Amino acid sequence: MSTLALAAIVAPATIVAVLGWVSLRQWEASAELLFREQARDMASMAAEKVEMMLRHSEDAFLERLGAALGETGPDARALDALLGQAPLVGRLYLVDRRGRLAYPPAGPRAEDAVVLARARAEAAPGLWERGGRRELVHEDQAWLVALLRARAGEPLLVVLSRDPEAVRREILETTLGGLESPTILAVLDSHDRPVYSRVPLGDARRLLAVGFREGLPTWRLAVYQRPGFSPRQAVRRQVAVFMAAFVVLLAVILAGIVATWRLMRRETEMARLKSDFVANVSHDLKTPLSVIRMFGETLEMGRVADEGRRREYYRVITRESERLSRLIDNVLDFSRIEGGRRVYDKAQTAVEPLVRDTLDAFAYPLAQQGFKVEVDVAADLPEVVLDADAVGQALANLVDNAIKYAGERRVLRVEARAAEGGLLLAVADQGIGIPPEEQARIFEKFYRVGRSETQGRRGSGVGLALVKHVAEAHGGRVRVESRPGEGSRFTLWLPRAGDA
Ligand SMILES: Nc1ncnc2c1ncn2[C@@H]1O[C@H](COP(=O)(O)OP(=O)(O)OP(=O)(O)O)[C@@H](O)[C@H]1O
Ligand SMILES: [Mg+2]
Repeated sequence: MSTLALAAIVAPATIVAVLGWVSLRQWEASAELLFREQARDMASMAAEKVEMMLRHSEDAFLERLGAALGETGPDARALDALLGQAPLVGRLYLVDRRGRLAYPPAGPRAEDAVVLARARAEAAPGLWERGGRRELVHEDQAWLVALLRARAGEPLLVVLSRDPEAVRREILETTLGGLESPTILAVLDSHDRPVYSRVPLGDARRLLAVGFREGLPTWRLAVYQRPGFSPRQAVRRQVAVFMAAFVVLLAVILAGIVATWRLMRRETEMARLKSDFVANVSHDLKTPLSVIRMFGETLEMGRVADEGRRREYYRVITRESERLSRLIDNVLDFSRIEGGRRVYDKAQTAVEPLVRDTLDAFAYPLAQQGFKVEVDVAADLPEVVLDADAVGQALANLVDNAIKYAGERRVLRVEARAAEGGLLLAVADQGIGIPPEEQARIFEKFYRVGRSETQGRRGSGVGLALVKHVAEAHGGRVRVESRPGEGSRFTLWLPRAGDA
């Protein structure tokens, strides 16, 4: 059964593990690919956005420039002021159709002379007529060359450079700063030095880079992978989580199987104990009944002439009937307990008579089997709140066991004394004893050590279960100390107030 169940788990588990391993490889590869594609898409999108922003602000500047020129012409002070409000523009030159510098009045910087010459050359074919804009790269610096048609006056060629710091601050930071992604976006200059990155790059790995088409021709937008993150690792992590969940699932299933198996074993054990119980009770009922019947019949036939013998027979009948009643009470009470119907009727009770009465019921078997009986009831015992019948029955069960499992040394010792704010009843014998590993189980219903009938002692196995129930119903407890071959001592402790 269990090997089959195990195979039913191990086989699918292995298959899933192998399949998982195979698909992990493919999964990793495609995740990498997908990730790259997504990163590229994102990079071109971001680049486009940056270009758009830049273009937008440049157009705005050109518009303002056009307006200013329309009002005042190339007036140096007005243009200086305009430039002051446009941080994106690094340097600005205005050239007229004849190639003369209209602004700034101070003339070009020495290093920009070449750029201006190139701009003029660039503008020569067509730009003056058709208008438009050109990008110009000179020594890492990107310039914008655009034709401005002022409403009044002749058209002017605008040559302007962008201020990298302002571009970083005004365009890149605002555009790229808000983008959330598992990757890092960075802008690199022509020497691949990062101009901008949202978080420090550290030792992040560059995945790919796309160029800006216009506006920032020398710069590129690069996508970096965070250190410790890669699609491969992400897949691995996912697989690990999946595997862990799978293992947990397996464990749960396994635990379920084990639990079911144990439950089944318990159930079969219980069924066996119950059938033993029925056989034992029937036998226990039969023995006293046949004794009663035999003696009854003998007496009825009037064959016993001797008065003494007759008395003896009556006593046997009475005694056996008492035994029967005790047995039936036990079984009935047990069934009440099982059905949760047993009620306890507690009242102030004197302990000494209770102990004496219980022992009196065993006077005959004790005497007949030659028991040495020691009774030690403390003199000043207070009254205790208890159900006298139930406690008497519990005590009777302990005494019955002490007689039944006495073995060779027939000694019975019964004690009653005050202890721990309650009443302690102890029944001790010097009989066969109980192995330590069985001591906890003997209080279970139907449980009998080594199926005690092998030792010729019959019993239904509910006696101690009953004792335990009585003890607990009074808020007390029952304990056993025992050594095989030396004897046992059961102690029943009940709180004085009847329940705790
Ligand atoms: N004093 C004792 N000495 C040795 N073994 C004992 C003693 N008392 C109980 N046992 C063991 O504990 C088991 C359970 O006892 P319990 O009184 O519940 O059942 P029982 O005596 O077999 O049947 P019954 O229901 O008729 O009392 C016994 O079968 C016996 O093996
Ligand atoms: Mg018993």
